[in-house]
Amino acid sequence: MKLILVGAPGAGKGTQAEKLIEKLGIPSISTGNILREHLKKGTELGEKARGFMESGALVPDDLIVDMLKARLSEPDCKEGYILDGYPRTVRQAEALKEMGAGIDRVVSIETDDESIIRRISGRRLCKNCGASYNLLFNKPEKDGVCSKCGSPLIQRDDDREETVRARLEVFHRQTEPVKAYYEKEGILLRVDGTGDIPDVTKKIFDALGLSE
Ligand code: AP5
Ligand code: MG
Ligand code: ZN
Repeated sequence: MKLILVGAPGAGKGTQAEKLIEKLGIPSISTGNILREHLKKGTELGEKARGFMESGALVPDDLIVDMLKARLSEPDCKEGYILDGYPRTVRQAEALKEMGAGIDRVVSIETDDESIIRRISGRRLCKNCGASYNLLFNKPEKDGVCSKCGSPLIQRDDDREETVRARLEVFHRQTEPVKAYYEKEGILLRVDGTGDIPDVTKKIFDALGLSE
């Protein structure tokens, strides 16, 4: 199974990808997470991407396409994968097709901008394993500490409100057309992403014909 999760920043792509990994036993590839690793390590790609990410803009397509191509050629992608946060432009969708990816389904997690701002301001991430929590909707067992590995929780640099608003604007302008692209291909599934986390998981599983 090759799946794409598309949705606004904070729509729940990463959260729902974790549920799908458990169910389907295939890896999830988040271009955002790969980029943040590059920033942390201070690689050349990381340095090129930094300014774009900090302002909430998209990183240029050619950098992203090369990075994704390399990741998809790794052996764990043979049986399928979930793409979280790629493609974000029609050009990226075309590049994926040129790679011969053969995507089965595209799940669009549909939300409204105001719930996004609330969700993102509460988001905290584990510094060590990257697990995602929310101070309002998905608390860790112990304040400020990862329930999975015990490391401290931190806030993402681009999760300040004005950057979130910029990311939302970029989503509407540059990524919404990607949904139309897949709608035309007949593989787009729209799922209401405004309920609580288990509720949205159920809707995604139903849309994909998976049992819980
Ligand atoms: P990326 O890391 O992909 O960020 P994003 O798309 O802005 O999405 P988020 O990770 O913020 O949201 P999410 O949908 O994963 O939500 P989550 O599950 O965490 O990209 C970052 C940057 O990298 C971009 O701005 C760009 O610069 C660059 N980049 C990345 N990919 C690129 C590409 N392909 N091309 C160009 N540039 C690229 O949920 C959010 C919070 O809400 C969490 O706290 C969660 O616990 C909570 N939550 C989730 N679901 C629910 C629910 N149903 N109810 C209540 N709370 C919920
Ligand atoms: Mg994410
Ligand atoms: Zn952790």
